[in-house]
Amino acid sequence: MYQTPYHTQDLSQYRFLVTGGAGFIGSNLVEYLLKWGAGKVRVLDNFATGSQANIAAFKANPAFELLEGDIRELDTCRKALEGIDLVSHQAALGSVPRSIHDPLASNEVNISGFLNMLVAARDAGVKRMVYAASSSTYGDHPALPKVEEQIGQPLSPYAVTKYVNELYAGVFSSTYNFHTLGLRYFNVFGPRQNPRGPYAAVIPLFIEAALRGEAPTINGDGQTSRDFTFVENAVQANIKAMLAEGISKHEVVNIAVGQRTTLNELWQQISGIAGISLSPHYREERPGDVRHSLADIGKAQKLFGYTPLYSVPQGLALAYAWYKAAGSQFSGR
Ligand SMILES: NC(=O)c1ccc[n+]([C@@H]2O[C@H](COP(=O)([O-])OP(=O)(O)OC[C@H]3O[C@@H](n4cnc5c(N)ncnc54)[C@H](O)[C@@H]3O)[C@@H](O)[C@H]2O)c1
Repeated sequence: MYQTPYHTQDLSQYRFLVTGGAGFIGSNLVEYLLKWGAGKVRVLDNFATGSQANIAAFKANPAFELLEGDIRELDTCRKALEGIDLVSHQAALGSVPRSIHDPLASNEVNISGFLNMLVAARDAGVKRMVYAASSSTYGDHPALPKVEEQIGQPLSPYAVTKYVNELYAGVFSSTYNFHTLGLRYFNVFGPRQNPRGPYAAVIPLFIEAALRGEAPTINGDGQTSRDFTFVENAVQANIKAMLAEGISKHEVVNIAVGQRTTLNELWQQISGIAGISLSPHYREERPGDVRHSLADIGKAQKLFGYTPLYSVPQGLALAYAWYKAAGSQFSGR
């Protein structure tokens, strides 16, 4: 992966901070930055859901630096930002069901931790803070495809936290002239996404089931659809968003492919790659889940030239091969 450069600048002149860099999306971003010769790549992570295995391959690179710490501590955020030019803030507690189970924890990390990062990044004078927003912000709004300005009521504590991130980012831009850019990811998947534990996402669960030769369990009737986004597309968005020139000081954009796949179609594709033929089991829908999701990606395209290079089938083939080779390096958190 990451054979295609998404930047034109010489990355050796920049020092990057990736919070949540030991997690799924963050570690993929770190991989890109190191591969293309970034001057420094510092990771701030407390390993709540990330893992040492995700960053093991980077440790020999002299440009890589790990700061083990918690974004809920302002001093830690300040330390992480010393000497940094550009930030990609990925650290958060993901998952709608996790936030329904423990809204206090999601609030502390995703809102208080986010606010600490904003304060520390503002005071450190970084050029821009790109951050992980979420398609969950569309909530119960029925329109498809989703356009950035039309959002509904949040359907989970997680969605509240991600919307509050956008509100704080906007206020920091207008009040302190601080530059922020929120990436509303739509169901990202790919290498290093954790397939274990109660909060695992659907694609790693389906791939692991296929690798075991078992049928997966689908919540609902399988006609629920998502705009699944291969992680390299999300990495491209982060790179372009961090380095873009001439965009206004606060923007929020959709990051997806702009195509919809149902869970039944997803299983068909994954079982096809695995060469098996098994019908899924079905159970009741989960609370907090939206029925359909599909992004309009025109705004990110226009603002910083985001052009997803990987379709869902291409991404699934790469992800499947990765999980097959990775074996059981994951724990369930
Ligand atoms: N994966 C998706 O489909 C998706 C969709 C929308 C938004 N997002 C957002 O993207 C970001 C990255 O998600 P991911 O899928 O890579 O999840 P992940 O759980 O793999 O990564 C999150 C990382 O943040 C770290 N972290 C958590 N709490 C922390 C704390 N208090 N201090 C420091 N580090 C902490 C974790 O240890 C982990 O390494 C998150 O903000 C998530 O909400 C993800």
